[in-house]
Amino acid sequence: MSVSEVLHDRIEADGPVHFDEFMEIALYGDGGFFTTGPLRSAATGDFLTSPEVSPWFGRTLGRFLAAKGVERHLVEVGAGSGSLLETLLPELGVGVEAWAVEASPMARDSLGDVVESGRVVGSLSGLPAPLSGAIIANELIDNLPVALAVRRGSAWVEHAVAAAGDGFEFVEVPVRPAVAEWADRFGGAVSEGGIVEAQLAAATWLTDALALLETGVAVLIDYGGTVEELEPRRQQGTLRTYRGHHLGPDPLLEPGETDITVDVNFTALGAVAEAAGAQATLQRQDDFLAEWGLRDEVRDMKHRELAAARAGDTMPQLEIRTERIAAETLLHPRGLGDFRVLTVEV
Ligand SMILES: C[S@@+](CC[C@H](N)C(=O)[O-])C[C@H]1O[C@@H](n2cnc3c(N)ncnc32)[C@H](O)[C@@H]1O
Repeated sequence: MSVSEVLHDRIEADGPVHFDEFMEIALYGDGGFFTTGPLRSAATGDFLTSPEVSPWFGRTLGRFLAAKGVERHLVEVGAGSGSLLETLLPELGVGVEAWAVEASPMARDSLGDVVESGRVVGSLSGLPAPLSGAIIANELIDNLPVALAVRRGSAWVEHAVAAAGDGFEFVEVPVRPAVAEWADRFGGAVSEGGIVEAQLAAATWLTDALALLETGVAVLIDYGGTVEELEPRRQQGTLRTYRGHHLGPDPLLEPGETDITVDVNFTALGAVAEAAGAQATLQRQDDFLAEWGLRDEVRDMKHRELAAARAGDTMPQLEIRTERIAAETLLHPRGLGDFRVLTVEV
């Protein structure tokens, strides 16, 4: 059964589905975007993430974690191909126990090469508890299902998904209390018709992750911003799709065929951390990587590149140049450097 058929059956039986349920089925249900097809986060897939762009992402994050002192466990959630773990683990001591949590079966297959067998699991509930060390996630939160709250007057309605012939359309339905409460708290100033993606699943995920972590740090890296930074994007909302490294069609057009994603509301995640009694710090990715030495590495690569050029060593010069350009991509102020890094110390 295709994702569209599953959704049509579900809508015929129970009426329009809330958008978070639509997104859950489209991404993670039978035939969903992350459940079928090739590995998505790779050069041959649908989007290219920081660890796929350059090994210096993992090495630099590894330096930060080594300085924090990962006692025993290093867990990556939404670990994709394993490229982050592969580059980060050499920075940590040999006694560290690495675990990968992945919802996608294809990604779980590729992670068997990176962590010991039995340490690749499908959800947080497969992890040992309690954990002492670190939980990291790059571009996980933007993929967790969201509800859509739409401003009507001084209140909210919700966008749900109804059938429209063979396809789907948005319809307005009464807002669920938890969605309205989230939108009031983290939506910021929203004018008539503006859209807030209520990230309740992200809040639940972080609450569960922090409950597992007895001592250590959680590091969440993603696109998005604070409530204030996201306010100008509220009229259109930030819901979008990706396919084949490009922005894809309307999320309702081809469910299961595209990535569905939103900008992460880091103010809301910070509130979850605070409620758990943890200390949260938010930084831009370029600032975080610079603080942990990446600009120094780039400078060193430039020196080595120049030395190779002077010596007439063309191949080494080109190799260092390629490595340097990829590392600089992680720091680009309007690209990956504009991502946010939330560190939560427990
Ligand atoms: C955008 S990809 C990022 C992959 C990798 N972190 C990287 O940076 O290349 C998001 C990944 O998170 C996984 N994922 C989504 N929700 C998850 C969940 N609740 N638990 C574990 N993995 C999840 C998806 O299957 C997908 O592989």
